[in-house]
Amino acid sequence: MYVQIFDKKEEACQASFELFKEELDANPQAVFGLATGSTPEVLYQLLSESDLDFSQATGLNLDEYFGLTADHPQSYAFFMQDHLYKNKPFKNKYIPDGSNPDVNIETARYNKIIADHPVDLQILGIGANAHIGFNEPGTSFDSKTHLVDLTDSTIQANKRFFESEDEVPTQAYSMGIQSIMQAKKIILMAFGPTKAKAVRDMIEGPVTEDVPASILQKHPHVYLFIDKEAASLLNN
Ligand code: PGA
Repeated sequence: MYVQIFDKKEEACQASFELFKEELDANPQAVFGLATGSTPEVLYQLLSESDLDFSQATGLNLDEYFGLTADHPQSYAFFMQDHLYKNKPFKNKYIPDGSNPDVNIETARYNKIIADHPVDLQILGIGANAHIGFNEPGTSFDSKTHLVDLTDSTIQANKRFFESEDEVPTQAYSMGIQSIMQAKKIILMAFGPTKAKAVRDMIEGPVTEDVPASILQKHPHVYLFIDKEAASLLNN
């Protein structure tokens, strides 16, 4: 794992931006694995304001709330449109369909999309419980796309985006850990003190399904771009 610690999250997002640019310059048809949440917001802003041309590229998202339609303001489809796609048209945009109640059909559909579009560069955040995507602690490292029961800590962390806790969906479709690990390169960004324990466990702890992000120790091309607060519990 290549770990770089930055004073500010803006600098970490700039470093991620440079890797996106490099990937796109090398291959205009690259497949970018995309994440939502607060962590990648500045990166998406930098991409939006740049002159990069994604019109031949593919964006493929990690996850989506179960039960929300793409036009729901808290859906991740809406987030992607608002933060990136409205400024940067991509050739293909894929995200699980949260409004599809048929779990077997939806997970099979998304697994086929992932198989047909191998990810070149994946961007990840990390949960305070070390989840990646919505793969909560205990998820099998062999998992593919699945329907997840969100943990209470994830619901608590995400309720800030909703009017009340009751409105936070309790389930989500998520790309599985096996699929995330198939990306050729991965960038994980983490900012702020609430991520410090997860970051330490990911980097310095054992590889265990109790700490989903710890599997990244086994990936050959991982960049961890983190700020000082998220790095504050690291020993080395
Ligand atoms: P955040 O979420 O970027 O909103 O902190 C990250 C995650 O839960 O993976």
